[in-house]
Amino acid sequence: MNSLTDTYTLAGGVEIPCVGFGTWQTPDGDVAIESVRTAIEAGYRHIDTASIYKNETGVGEGVRQGLAAAGLAREDVFVTSKLWNTERGYDSALAAFDATRERLGLDYLDLYLIHWPAAAHQHENWRELNADTWRAFEKLHADGRVRAIGISNFKPSHLQALLENAKVAPMVNQVEFHPGFLQEETREACAKAGILLEAWSPLGQGKLLGDPTMVEVAKRHGATPAQVAIRWCLQHGALPLPKSATPERIVSNANVFGFELTGEDMAAIDALEIGRIGGDPDSVPF
Ligand code: A2P
Repeated sequence: MNSLTDTYTLAGGVEIPCVGFGTWQTPDGDVAIESVRTAIEAGYRHIDTASIYKNETGVGEGVRQGLAAAGLAREDVFVTSKLWNTERGYDSALAAFDATRERLGLDYLDLYLIHWPAAAHQHENWRELNADTWRAFEKLHADGRVRAIGISNFKPSHLQALLENAKVAPMVNQVEFHPGFLQEETREACAKAGILLEAWSPLGQGKLLGDPTMVEVAKRHGATPAQVAIRWCLQHGALPLPKSATPERIVSNANVFGFELTGEDMAAIDALEIGRIGGDPDSVPF
């Protein structure tokens, strides 16, 4: 990967720009509009939001303003949103997609994800629930209303169950992935099924940036620890989704193509032990 316009190719052939701009915890309104516009002007071509972030209206407006400012067309930017947990099931997923699309003000989405799997700790019928939701996703995809479909926070057990009934396999699994949390089993299961792994919180929500190894590797490359974390994701073949609402950081986080981590750097970062910062899909209370 040499620039923000370089892409991974998803199963089915859709091209997805290799770094996405994250918007979790970005407030709706001016902050969402301005950070998304700034990101597109800075060269990001991939924006990630979700129904539960409650910022789709601002993100959609930011996309329109960014496209206008950068002289781009709708198809030049890749937009993802996600179905919230209260919207699972066939009919409610179809309705939720319409509401998301309307809030974003877009004719189509590039990628739509099931945000969290229904799981056994909350749903006896979790397999059926995920299968019903997925049928709605397959319909949205077949109807051309979304170019690619996928999942988020699915562990291998949730993925295997979904694949048993799926006509179209998920193209993406977006999970927590950052230095100190390697997700080996999930990465392996995704690779086997031809699923691209996207990394949420690639900066560990900012918490891993002071780690001495990150600081040292960054210094050696004349980079920031955030740039090293993003680069590390890319060199693992994952798609990082760094979030920032700070203009200088939005610009700086995109500047990850002028250096390459060595095998030694990668091994030193791989050896970090930080663990999960977000929720475990098998025990989240939502
Ligand atoms: P802010 O949005 O105020 O700039 P993640 O993407 O792993 O969830 O991390 C997002 C968090 O990391 C946010 O709190 C964001 O703060 C912070 N952050 C983003 N980029 C940088 C950076 N380059 N240096 C330090 N903190 C950053």
